[in-house]
Amino acid sequence: MNLLRKKSISTLLAGSKEGYSLKKELGALDLTLLGIGAIIGTGIFVLTGTGALTAGPSLMISFVIAGLACLFSALAYAEFASTVPVSGSVYTYTYATLGELVAWIIGWDLILEYLLAVSAVSVGWSGYFQSLLGGLGIHIPVAFTGAPGSVPGTTTYFNLPALVIVLLITALLSVGVKQSKKVNNVMVIVKLIVVLLFIFVGFKYVKPDNWHPFMPFGLGGVFSTAALVFFAFIGFDAVASAAEETKNPNKDLPKGIMFSLLICTLLYVIVSGIMTGIVPYKQFEGNIDHPISLAIQVAGIDWVAGIIDVGAILGMTTVMLVMLYGQTRIMFSMSRDGLMPKMFSQVHPKYQTPFKATWMLGIIAALMGSLIPLQELAELVNIGTLSAFMLISVAVLVLRYTKPDLKRAFRCPGVPFVPILAIVFCGFLILQLGAATWIRFVIWLGIGLIVYFVYSRKHSKLNKVNE
Ligand code: ALA
Repeated sequence: MNLLRKKSISTLLAGSKEGYSLKKELGALDLTLLGIGAIIGTGIFVLTGTGALTAGPSLMISFVIAGLACLFSALAYAEFASTVPVSGSVYTYTYATLGELVAWIIGWDLILEYLLAVSAVSVGWSGYFQSLLGGLGIHIPVAFTGAPGSVPGTTTYFNLPALVIVLLITALLSVGVKQSKKVNNVMVIVKLIVVLLFIFVGFKYVKPDNWHPFMPFGLGGVFSTAALVFFAFIGFDAVASAAEETKNPNKDLPKGIMFSLLICTLLYVIVSGIMTGIVPYKQFEGNIDHPISLAIQVAGIDWVAGIIDVGAILGMTTVMLVMLYGQTRIMFSMSRDGLMPKMFSQVHPKYQTPFKATWMLGIIAALMGSLIPLQELAELVNIGTLSAFMLISVAVLVLRYTKPDLKRAFRCPGVPFVPILAIVFCGFLILQLGAATWIRFVIWLGIGLIVYFVYSRKHSKLNKVNE
């Protein structure tokens, strides 16, 4: 029964107030910006190229399907976030509802989501950065432009720009939320302007003929592409990870999650429609690194292309900031509960951040991003996230049943149907992912279970509570 032991919700809330606690300084607008900061990135700027090749113009539908999976999950997520407003996102909520082992598994899944997303986005960032440098006549030696085996026909050792950007972001986060929040907000605004610029300038060049055939690879293509571009939505849940640093979490968290998700879904469908309306989808073959700027070039409006490159670079920077931030906070919570070593919850006396943990995690993300190709990283991130979303939807149902009277600032509408729809949509998308991704995921979970039984179970703070 030890495996099912739970942290009580009141202990969770109290625990966040004593000892190692974080500064409360975020409001609803900050959270929405934090969400958009985490969401719009490599998914729309890079993976749309691959998506157009496998779904054609029906990429728009793939985005809608992935968006629906997120919407249902987000509703469930927001209910949890408003019930247990402490740092650590879905991991913490699961600890209170489904018990320690499931919470551990989910925390371990979230490492795939957050940490590897930083790595995946750093690869997309590097692509746009190299293109920008190329435009200025500067070329990085080929050997340092990509992960081993990522550029056919050439020898590459590692992705230098990806490595450097993650280390810079780590440095920024390690010295404090305040500075990084400001930087984040400015960059998010720049990113939104760039996406809107693409929409307003690009739509005039759309040739509706390019939307025929609309679904060249049938529904199979639409579905498998939805499983890939799901990546573009990842990040809205990072908002929930910031619960403990939010001034008024019960109201602001659900708002932040829903607003950022809705805004992004709308933008994605419009952007992918315009993109495939300007460029016949077959032209993305061999051109999948910068699909958005390709569309602009095909339209012949070169002045916009440079701006889009810069915007994409800044946009992806914020994604990495928010995701790495989320990862350090999840580790913080797991460590505070005794499931991870103590160093992950040590707060720096001057910066009031988990300084050492930030550096350790940042270095790991930097290495992964510089050594593993984008698609492999993105698929692993997706499978980790989708399974976490399924578990959280189960948790919402369980909590409604076991604790019907618990105060919930936000109630997921349509229970049990909405959480069940979340489970069905996420499960369906998982089934679309490749066998290699499944195998890697199972290995990752296996390692997680070993760590849990060898270390975490013995060090859990709940051991003391129960003595
Ligand atoms: N949704 C984020 C992106 O597309 C992870 O970059």
